[in-house]
Amino acid sequence: LGPRDLDGVHVVVSAGGTREPIDAVRVIANRSSGKQGYAVAAEAAARGASVTIVSTVDRPAPVGAAVERVETAAQMQSAMERLAPSAGVVVMAAAVADFRPAAAVDRKIKKHDGVPEIVLEPTPDILAGLGANKPAGQVLVGFAAETDDMAANAQRKLVAKHLDLIVANDVAADATGFQHDTNAVTLFSPDQSPVEVPLADKRQIAAAVIDRVVALRRAATD
Ligand code: PMT
Repeated sequence: LGPRDLDGVHVVVSAGGTREPIDAVRVIANRSSGKQGYAVAAEAAARGASVTIVSTVDRPAPVGAAVERVETAAQMQSAMERLAPSAGVVVMAAAVADFRPAAAVDRKIKKHDGVPEIVLEPTPDILAGLGANKPAGQVLVGFAAETDDMAANAQRKLVAKHLDLIVANDVAADATGFQHDTNAVTLFSPDQSPVEVPLADKRQIAAAVIDRVVALRRAATD
């Protein structure tokens, strides 16, 4: 048995990619499988946390975790805003759409109507909102999906969203990021040097993330 260093802590994890409706049958989606978010949830639960996963994907819930299903960024935002205020740890591993159709059509757009013009609008930044309203003592974790300038982009998101930790992954490299069973990440926290976690199973990456979360919680109460 490993450490029970999150005993009694409520951990909320978002997982999967949001799906934004275009019409009654079509969506804008992304490649997130939910594997990395569910691995974080499983690791937190194994270490004693009571875990809620806010999920867009149909995967078996890890032992000790409850799942709330959502589909859109707006639904994920309302679930996260309801759950986060009383959580000790919040991890946004989900890939949230940055843009959605401004007005979803409530029927199927027909081919014979011609090529549709889809006007997009920005979605709310859920994590930035959680950072702006973070309760004292909570550890707030984001992920950063990058294809270039990883360190600079991750550091910018860390500061802008008021995070305690950002987990940056290269989503263009082989065997890391979306859909793979493996990942490689760099951990960024304020006032600490970046720490690289080399290619490993997503559960091992999750263990490294939770180790840092536990260390941040200890540092906050020392
Ligand atoms: O699900 P898998 O297939 O296992 O893949 C894992 C993953 C690649 C999806 C995961 O490791 C990951 O990187 N998740 C974050 C994806 C992302 O949206 O990154 P971003 O750099 O665009 O966003 C930065 C942070 O802000 C993220 O924590 C994101 O959840 C959050 N965000 C982004 C946009 C938005 N409108 N609201 C948000 O809360």
